[in-house]
Amino acid sequence: MKFLPTLLGLAGLARLGAATFQPSGVPFLSPVTVAAGFSASVAFSNLTAPRGIAFDAEENLLVVERGYGVTAFTRVTSPIPGFERTLVVKNPDLTHGIQVDGKILYVSTAKAVIAYEYDSSTKSVSAPPYIVVDGLPADGVLMTHTLLLEKDSSGVTTALLVGAGPLTNIDLTARDPASGRSQIRRMVFPPIAPPIFPPPALPWANGEVVAYGIRNPAGFADGVDLTVPPIATRVLYVVENGASINSVKGITPLFANDNPSDELEFVRYPTSSPSTIAPDSYGYPDCTSLWNGDADPAGVPQYVGFPRGSQISLNLDALHDASWCKDPANNQPPSLNFQAHSAPLDIKFYNPGNITVTSFPSTLSGDAFVSFHGSFDRTPPTGYGVVHVPFPLGASSGSQPYSFIVQATDLRSCPGKCIRPVGLAFGKDGRLYVSSDTSGELFVIENGHGID
Ligand SMILES: *[C@@H]1O[C@H](CO)[C@@H](O)[C@H](O)[C@H]1NC(C)=O
Ligand SMILES: *[C@@H]1O[C@H](CO)[C@@H](O)[C@H](O)[C@H]1NC(C)=O
Repeated sequence: MKFLPTLLGLAGLARLGAATFQPSGVPFLSPVTVAAGFSASVAFSNLTAPRGIAFDAEENLLVVERGYGVTAFTRVTSPIPGFERTLVVKNPDLTHGIQVDGKILYVSTAKAVIAYEYDSSTKSVSAPPYIVVDGLPADGVLMTHTLLLEKDSSGVTTALLVGAGPLTNIDLTARDPASGRSQIRRMVFPPIAPPIFPPPALPWANGEVVAYGIRNPAGFADGVDLTVPPIATRVLYVVENGASINSVKGITPLFANDNPSDELEFVRYPTSSPSTIAPDSYGYPDCTSLWNGDADPAGVPQYVGFPRGSQISLNLDALHDASWCKDPANNQPPSLNFQAHSAPLDIKFYNPGNITVTSFPSTLSGDAFVSFHGSFDRTPPTGYGVVHVPFPLGASSGSQPYSFIVQATDLRSCPGKCIRPVGLAFGKDGRLYVSSDTSGELFVIENGHGID
């Protein structure tokens, strides 16, 4: 036993020594097309399914490498420009979600939210994790649990928003907010930290339902005006992945190739706790949005000529019919429709601090950026990129309400080695950092002109 401290010391040294370096200029695994005014470059290659990303207090980018753990990426400018990758913690159970709050690193597994005590100066954790939220439904088809910290106007963390996906592709149990499926819950932290550490886990069952009927709430961002006091109601933007409807009665494969839309939901929720206002439903599993009503005029004639975004019923039973779906009391319509099968996974707003030559132009201030993981069941493929959505989101839904800033060049070769964007994070340098899981890449989008 007397050797234990020495062994731990060596383990610590080994961990600190584990940094690897990748110089700038390594090409994308598969070519990308970048919109005029931007440039995109690979920061690091050969990661293990990188998913959620978040910056720490010292501007290291922390990445959940699914099945591996959390790694930190630090920009190096000399002697050779590039990025350094450091293993922060090994944990093969991590799936997706990540948030950093000073010295606390929150990450999600299929069944829990856990936290590590984290030191951004050494890029390391100091102890085993503790459970923050337990009892998450872990048996669903999607095991990702997206996380977002909620802070009050003075910057104090008040709650953690946690997403949950469905049990099955079309999950009838998700009609009931008590199911814990296809919804976002607000886990409220006690106003005064309990005297014991670690604090007791918050049971998922006690979380406040903020919104439900959102099949896969994959990415959320709070609105730009959230921290303006008083905060009685907050707004949250949520990107949702629609169901595959190939097997729904009356739907043809040709129609399902172009429907339903993936969605951007605008969620309002009160912060009084406990809330006395019932949460809104966004319609899943019964209601969905049309992307292209004319996709199969012979096979599915009933939606020909319907405008994009029309709320339709999948007619899973007699009660939840077309008129039921048109009532916002049952089904809040989306604020923006994304092309069917885009698979949006994250949304981030650009709120520049100090504009530098690499920063996105200040004219894009307040606009949103959304990652599209890309289709797995559409011919030809779509998505595989990052889009710009001007603020206010969805206002110009008549014309093209969003446009690609980066996209895989040859969509016909996707997924293959194409980028599959997942997590997004803006650095203080005004660059947009993007994880791409199946290509194992972390890449950076910046101002291609080098001017504002
Ligand atoms: C990634 O891994 C492959 C296979 O091991 C290797 O050929 C390639 O050089 C690596 N790329 C980088 C940038 O290290
Ligand atoms: C902007 O620059 C000032 C002065 O260098 C610095 O104190 C501040 O933290 C910077 N703000 C951001 C958001 O980076």
